[in-house]
Amino acid sequence: MRLLLMGPPGAGKGTQAANIALRFGIPAISTGDIFRANVADETPLGVAARRYMDAGEYVPDEITNAMVADRIVRDDCRDGFLLDGYPRTQRQVAELDGILSLAGSRLDAVVLLEADTEELVQRLLRRAEEQGRADDTEHVIRRRLEVYAAETAPLAAHYTERGLLDAVDGLGAVDEVAERILRALAERSKAASRA
Ligand code: AP5
Ligand code: MG
Repeated sequence: MRLLLMGPPGAGKGTQAANIALRFGIPAISTGDIFRANVADETPLGVAARRYMDAGEYVPDEITNAMVADRIVRDDCRDGFLLDGYPRTQRQVAELDGILSLAGSRLDAVVLLEADTEELVQRLLRRAEEQGRADDTEHVIRRRLEVYAAETAPLAAHYTERGLLDAVDGLGAVDEVAERILRALAERSKAASRA
């Protein structure tokens, strides 16, 4: 299974990625988590990424693409992976396509988690209180939502055209959302086996 999990900040990508990855026995790879670990360790990658993250801007494509290219060729990705929060730009889409085609593989599905803006802001403000993530201030949350709308939301149309996109309602209990995602993936695999 080679899956992408897309959706705006706070849609539940990280929450659902863990569950899906467990279900399919594949690694969940979150570019945001990798950047945060590097920021915490003050690595050169972390130092380069931090100012973009703190401002709610995307880390430049060259940096992000190199990081993902290095990650998904590792052994644990041989039978598949779930990418949470990548690709987010046209150039990242092209990079991922290039990596997969070199490896003779392709994507199986792209899950788009949807939720309305006020719910997203409320979730992230709640997380700010619980976890204190640096970019969970109201000002930066709103900027992250703007950047998502401008750069990433349009990619959904691209994956729809390729017949890969499943849009899933991200509102409701975590378990209900998980169930919707698994149902969408199961339908897709049934359709693929009929074809
Ligand atoms: P990243 O870490 O990916 O942040 P994000 O996209 O803003 O998304 P979040 O992680 O905030 O939300 P999520 O969708 O994972 O939701 P979660 O499950 O946590 O990226 C951070 C930064 O890194 C970017 O701004 C950028 O600078 C950089 N970056 C990362 N990838 C990049 C890329 N490809 N290119 C360039 N730069 C990149 O849930 C949110 C909260 O809601 C949690 O508290 C959770 O418990 C709660 N929750 C989840 N589901 C539910 C539910 N159903 N009901 C109620 N609450 C829920
Ligand atoms: Mg996340």
